[in-house]
Amino acid sequence: MASRRLLVTAALPYSNGRLHVGHIAGAYLPADTYVRFLRMKGAEVRFICGSDDNGVAALKTARERGIPVEELTAHFNKRQRLDFEGLGIRFDIYGGTHQVDFAELHEKFSQDFFLKIHEKGLFTKKRTKQLYDTQADQFLPDRFVKGKCPHCASDKAFGDQCEGCGRALDQIELIDPVSVLTNTAPELRETVHWYLRLDQIQGRLAEWLAQKKESADGGANWRPVVINQSLGRIEAEGLPERAMTRDLTWGVPVPLEDPDAEGKCLYVWFDAPIGYVSFTAKHCLNNGEAEADYANWWKDPECSIVHFIGEDNIVFHALTWPAMLLATHDSESLQGEKGEYQLPANVVANSFLNIKFPGKDEEKISKSRGTAVWIEDYLQHFDPDPLRYYLTAIAPESARTAFDVDDFIARNNGELVNALGNFFNRTLTFAHKYFEGKVPAAGDLEDVDKELLTKCVEVAKNTTEHLEAYQFKAGLNEMMSLARTGNLYFDQTKPFLSRKTDMEACGRAINCCLQAARTLTTLMSPFLPESAEKVAGMLNIADTYQDWDAAGQDLLADGHALNEAAILFKKLDAAELFDN
Ligand code: 2FM
Ligand code: ZN
Repeated sequence: MASRRLLVTAALPYSNGRLHVGHIAGAYLPADTYVRFLRMKGAEVRFICGSDDNGVAALKTARERGIPVEELTAHFNKRQRLDFEGLGIRFDIYGGTHQVDFAELHEKFSQDFFLKIHEKGLFTKKRTKQLYDTQADQFLPDRFVKGKCPHCASDKAFGDQCEGCGRALDQIELIDPVSVLTNTAPELRETVHWYLRLDQIQGRLAEWLAQKKESADGGANWRPVVINQSLGRIEAEGLPERAMTRDLTWGVPVPLEDPDAEGKCLYVWFDAPIGYVSFTAKHCLNNGEAEADYANWWKDPECSIVHFIGEDNIVFHALTWPAMLLATHDSESLQGEKGEYQLPANVVANSFLNIKFPGKDEEKISKSRGTAVWIEDYLQHFDPDPLRYYLTAIAPESARTAFDVDDFIARNNGELVNALGNFFNRTLTFAHKYFEGKVPAAGDLEDVDKELLTKCVEVAKNTTEHLEAYQFKAGLNEMMSLARTGNLYFDQTKPFLSRKTDMEACGRAINCCLQAARTLTTLMSPFLPESAEKVAGMLNIADTYQDWDAAGQDLLADGHALNEAAILFKKLDAAELFDN
C-alpha cells in the first residue's frame, strides 16, 4: 500500500449509558486496530468519533433519571471517553453532537447539509398523521413508541427501526403501537415533516452498491452482510421516502423560515453521521487549520473514508447516509467529484456479541438483566491488552459470537501468557543470562534457522493482507502463529542444551529467536499496543518497531544491546471480576 490518506470513523455511541464489551468488539476495537496499522504503514489518517447526544435515546434516559438531558449526555460523554482511553482506543478527536465545545459547529454543519438537500429539491414536505400521546401531551417520535414490526412481527419494533429485522420503519406502520412514556395507546394527529426522496436516489445508490459488490478492488473487501442488507433492500422493496425531521426540541432545529418548521428538529439519524464531518472540522480548528479544511478529508477523491459500525447501523450507513451524501451532489458521478462529499470506500460492520458467564447459558448482553461486562469494571482490575486480544480473537466479523468468561481467562493464560509472553521472556532472559544482554552472532544459518526467518517474512505478508481486507481475527491468528513457531523452534534447537556444548549454535538459535521477537513486536502493535511498546523497550527498538514494512525484513544486528526483560502478561483469575 502506497502512502495514502484515510478518514476513519467509529459509530457515535449514544451518550445515555456505559460501554460494555459488545460495543467495543462491534466497532471501536477493529477501527482502532485498523488505524494503528494504517499509521504504521505510513498513511495519513484522521480517526473520528464522539457521542450521539441528540434525539430520543438520551431524552428518554434523562426523563427516567429526572435530570436535564444536557447533564446526562455530558456525563456519559466523559465516562465513555475514559473507557476508550483506558483501552488504548485513540481517536484524533472525541466530540459530541450536543457537547459544549461542539454543538454550535455541529448545528451549522447539519443545517447547511439539510439546506443543500432542500435546495436540490430532494425533500418532500408532507402533512401527515403521527402518533400522539394525549397523556404526555406530545408526539412520539422514534424510541418513544414501540409495537409489532409489520415486516417480521418482532415486538421489538420502535418508531424508526425494528430491532428484529433491522429495517427502517415509519412509525405509523407499527402494529399495536404503545407509548413508552405512559404505556397508553397513542392516537393519530396531524403534523408536517420533510421526507428525503430516497425513491429519487435509489437508482444511483443501487448502482454504487453493485459496483462495490462487483469490482475486484473496490468491492472485494465489503462484507457480504453489508451489501446484502442494503442492496438487497433496494432490490426487494425499493426505498420509500423517509422523514428527516421530528416533533422534538432536543436536537438540531430545522433551518427553514417556515412556520411549519417551528418546534421541530432534524431526525437524530440525519444529524449523527454529520457529526463525523463537524468533528473533523473541529479537529482542523484545534490543529490550527481552517474550518473549511474538513473538505480535504471529506470532499477529496484522494482520501478514502471508512466507517466502522455494528450491524444494527448497516441500513443507516450503507443506505441513508450515502443517500444523504448523493443528495448534496451537483454531479452525476457516483463517488463524488472533487469538492463534493465522497461516498464511503467501505462500511465495515460487525455482528453483536453474546455473553456467557460460568455455569450459565450463553445469552444476549442486556443492561436491564445485568448480563454485561462493563468496560469501567474491567479496567479497574485488568490491563487493556488481554481484553483487546480476546475481543479480536472472537471478533463477530461474520456472525454473532460470545464473550465466554472462562474462555477469556483460558485464552489469556494459554495464548498470551504461555505462547506470546513466554516466547519473549525465554528469549530475552536467555540473551541476558548467557550473552551479556546482546544479540549473539547469527553465524552460518542452517535450514531450521532459515525456515524461522522465512516464516517471519510470510507472517508479516499475510498479516498485512488480512488487515488490509479488514480481517482482524485472521490477522491476529497469523501473528500468533509466529509466536507458536518461535516456541517450537526454541524447543527444537534447544539452546538450553547447546549452551553447554556448542556456544555458536546456541548463539545462532537465540539470534533467530530475537529476530522473530522483533518481527512479532511490530506485528502485535496494532492489536496489543501497550504490550508492544513494553517489549519494544526490552528489545531496545522503541524508535523502529512502528515501521510496519520493516517487520520480517529488518534484522537486529549482531551485538545490538537489549534492555532488561520483564514479564509481559499475567495469568488472570475470573473470580476477581466475573463472580456473578
Ligand atoms: O447505534 C448507535 O449507537 C448510534 N448512536 C450510532 C450512530 S452512528 C453515526 F451515524 F453517528
Ligand atoms: Zn422487523
